Amino acid sequence: MKKILITGGAGFIGSHTVVAVHQSGYQPVIVDNFSNSEKSVLNGIEKICGRAFPLHEGDCVDAPFMRSVFKAEGEIAGVIHFAAYKSVNESLEQPAKYYKNNIGSLLTLLDVMQEFKSPLLVFSSSCTVYGDPDECPVTEAAPMKETPTPYGKTKQICENIIRDVVASGRDIKGVALRYFNPIGAHPTGFIGELPIGVPNNLVPYVTQTAAGIRDRLTVFGDDYGTPDGSCVRDFIHVVDLAEAHVKALDYLQGVKEPRCYEVFNCGTGHGHSVKEVVETFEKANGLKLNYKIGPRRPGDIEQVYANTDRVNALMNWKSKLSLDQALKDAWNWQKMLNKK
Ligand code: UD1
Repeated sequence: MKKILITGGAGFIGSHTVVAVHQSGYQPVIVDNFSNSEKSVLNGIEKICGRAFPLHEGDCVDAPFMRSVFKAEGEIAGVIHFAAYKSVNESLEQPAKYYKNNIGSLLTLLDVMQEFKSPLLVFSSSCTVYGDPDECPVTEAAPMKETPTPYGKTKQICENIIRDVVASGRDIKGVALRYFNPIGAHPTGFIGELPIGVPNNLVPYVTQTAAGIRDRLTVFGDDYGTPDGSCVRDFIHVVDLAEAHVKALDYLQGVKEPRCYEVFNCGTGHGHSVKEVVETFEKANGLKLNYKIGPRRPGDIEQVYANTDRVNALMNWKSKLSLDQALKDAWNWQKMLNKK
């Protein structure tokens, strides 16, 4: 069974990807330092998969640690690299921390992959690399525009690093997956998102408001040039997104070109507004959400959603799960958390 190393495997998208990788017949190996995740996530994975997977607890920036992982595991057929800091706000307050960790971990990983002849890398990127795109739906050919956050800049820099390293002929092929807005949770309710403190992202704020943890959701702005005035995003179910990583591994294994580097949009291809998310959440779960319209949030862009033609055709991946389903699963997960 081919081993796939998953850094950040205890995180939100990472944990769902561990499940998808296992269910596709690979053996996942998890690396995590639990800086922004909890060990209990591993129990959730075990409940879904019926078994535990090897875990190496440590930091991807730490080269001796990463070498020890590759040494202990033997042949690693591919690496999915999630481990990174992801808070937009925190990155504005502590930019050096973001550059050091997000770029440092990738550089270490690439060195160690080359040393141990591990040939495939799937990188966790974001639609934030497009900045405020000129056109929607946005295609992969759209330029990387200036993005105001250090978090976003680390994603742009990391993509460029992978492209250059692949081009230099170090026997590594790579894919960067540009996630749109991942939401939802595993339908079993055993794994999901675990925001620390007050959530910045929409859906965790919605579910925490419904659960009574937050008083009221604020919809940030309803005077945008969108159909209902609120911002439009491409909300993708995390289970669909996890599947995209397996497809990326399959794609890289099938590609003949030894210096293959590709970027793919991972979204549904459909835009939904913030107000639509609120309404769909209410309808899907049969409850009323306490919310108000507030001012725009600085730095938000009006709308972004994906053109998925390329990823559909080349990677043979398409999202299947609806917004309705994602919001049901997110609420189911929140209810499981409330019980704990
Ligand atoms: C942000 C990041 C993105 C990252 C994503 C997931 C930027 C510009 N965006 O996306 O890179 O991948 O988080 O972590 O760096 N909203 C409300 N009320 C709330 C919270 C959010 O109205 O309490 C609105 C926002 O104004 C926005 C939409 O909901 O229009 C989505 O917000 P959010 O979930 O924070 O994601 P993004 O900002 O789109």
